[in-house]
Amino acid sequence: MTLQLPVWAVVTPKRREHIARVVHVLEQWSVAMELDIDEALAWRDAGRWHDALRDEGEYALRMITGELDRPVGMLHGPAAASRLAIEGESRHPVLEAIRWHTVGCAAWQRTGRALYMADFLEPGRPFLQTERALLAARVPTAFDAVFRDVVRLRIEWALRSGKGLAHETVRLWNDIR
Ligand SMILES: [Fe+2]
Repeated sequence: MTLQLPVWAVVTPKRREHIARVVHVLEQWSVAMELDIDEALAWRDAGRWHDALRDEGEYALRMITGELDRPVGMLHGPAAASRLAIEGESRHPVLEAIRWHTVGCAAWQRTGRALYMADFLEPGRPFLQTERALLAARVPTAFDAVFRDVVRLRIEWALRSGKGLAHETVRLWNDIR
């Protein structure tokens, strides 16, 4: 299957491969969890579009989002969500999944949580490969428990590399710990 991205997407070939792997992981979970068609499509589309502006320039991302202060690495989700909404995408879970996929969101239901996990657990990332594969395999039977583990791992990873935490991430962790 060719990966369908919006015409305005700005992605490198490597990014396109990452997006395809995220979609594949989401589709595997959808089948294993026997999702209804609407939710399966929501997961797939969230995966397809979450990084559509990941390789867009800082100026354009700040123009689209109106965000002048946030770190640029946090802007591609909100920017893609706002472009999709302008184009008529109205599924709230899809837009919220994409908008917050970099930092997490305490109000997420399953679509946002699934994208957040798939983005981190897709097999192409070079670190923690065994641990992440085990987590990915457990998602269909222990969705919320794995989500909590992934949030914790991503926070630990951020702290270890000296990065700060967005307030959305802190709120999410306090909500699920
Ligand atoms: Fe991603």
